[in-house]
Amino acid sequence: MDVSVFGTGYVGLVQAAALADVGHRVLCVDIDELKIQQLQRAVPPIQEPGLSAMIDDNLREGRLSFSTQASDAVIHGQLIFIAVGTPPDEDGSADLRHVLGVTREIASHMQADRTLVIKSTVPVGTASQVEAVARDELDRLGKGQLAVRVVSNPEFLKEGSAVNDCIRPDRIIVGSDDEQTRAQLAELYAPFCRSRDKLIFMDNRSAELTKYAANAMLATRISLMNELANLAEQLGADIEAVRRGIGSDPRIGYHFIYPGCGFGGSCFPKDLRALLHTARASGQPLRLLQSVQEVNETQRLVPFQKLQKLYPEGLAGKSIALWGLAFKPNTDDMREAPSRCLMEALWREGATVRAFDPEAMSECRRLYGYRDDLVLCATRDDTLQDADALVICTEWKAFRVVDFALLAHKLRDRLVIDGRNLYNPQQLAAAGLRYLGIGLPQVAPQAGPQ
Ligand code: UDX
Repeated sequence: MDVSVFGTGYVGLVQAAALADVGHRVLCVDIDELKIQQLQRAVPPIQEPGLSAMIDDNLREGRLSFSTQASDAVIHGQLIFIAVGTPPDEDGSADLRHVLGVTREIASHMQADRTLVIKSTVPVGTASQVEAVARDELDRLGKGQLAVRVVSNPEFLKEGSAVNDCIRPDRIIVGSDDEQTRAQLAELYAPFCRSRDKLIFMDNRSAELTKYAANAMLATRISLMNELANLAEQLGADIEAVRRGIGSDPRIGYHFIYPGCGFGGSCFPKDLRALLHTARASGQPLRLLQSVQEVNETQRLVPFQKLQKLYPEGLAGKSIALWGLAFKPNTDDMREAPSRCLMEALWREGATVRAFDPEAMSECRRLYGYRDDLVLCATRDDTLQDADALVICTEWKAFRVVDFALLAHKLRDRLVIDGRNLYNPQQLAAAGLRYLGIGLPQVAPQAGPQ
């Protein structure tokens, strides 16, 4: 099929590459000329495993192309994806300026019937709004005879496994009551449904809500686990044992019950705020989800609060090693990352941060620039040089195997605060380290060599 994609951000680009890879002819447009020029040379603006090779292959095969010309894209694609950004407004609601702007532009170029597929995460009711805006524009331009169909088709991809999530989706939500549109989308996604039918059809409001509901459910699991972890600490219980115990119940399962120093990223916090806003505005506030968000705000500060407790005389002049800047492993994304709450709190107190992350170092530099109280270290172990304590914020694989004796030797206060529960407390205690995880029992450090 001929498909166009407006917006070459995370969602649009990965979707476009995946569609081209199964044989569709895909044209992507973006207003960012530099980005398009780079994509034409197969240089993606984001790092995702498999993405660069996929773009390269499909560019060469002629199934994928990039342009800044909206008119070309409207002529090319019988199906037109809208995957432009929905940045949060000041009140947390999703700003639909780009989505509606692109809709108007598409309608202005339309010379034949078109189906618009909304991929961006948008508030409930947006598909109807998009349809109304497109209709209005078509009528205004004397093209009232043209049909415009709008389908809501939310994306569930995760950073770091976006390509895989896109080519092997768990489910494909198609929000449209129109039989012809449903058939079009079924044909488009047939190559992704070979092992089993993954299409779930529904009305577009339900499709829009499904995306938010999925993120709300997952975020709720995390915040609940984080609260239980904090309680376990008070009670002298071990949240890791509790996690294994409850995860074995198939009704609960093991996914998304890892306690830690809070969730971050570009989706969960933003989508939660948007859904809370929608709910309030509709007169049906979501009390539970409000708490999920509040718990996460405070959870991101837990490593800092632990430090504060251990240094009652204050953190001024302290040097804190930090492992992990990205909001999760396998990405350089630091949006809403717990590491940022920690660093900013430490800086306010006058401490210095010695940080390492396998991928997010330049992102950190871009965000915070050069400052005396931030030292970006070339290796994980360089952070330990003259450091008083170590805090871990991201569970990168490269942090899993550690020489605890070296940590005990290097860290002046022999203190490790682990926001991701990576280690066995007994082992750190045996090496003479004081180890504080999230919801883990405290084991008294054994006196090690001085
Ligand atoms: C998420 C959703 O998974 C995806 O379906 C949606 O489309 C976009 O938002 P992503 O933001 O890439 O994807 O991250 P994800 O892997 O889901 O992790 C989100 C956050 O939750 C991370 O900060 C992670 O550290 C945290 N997390 C996850 C926990 O703290 N505990 C867990 O058990 C799982």
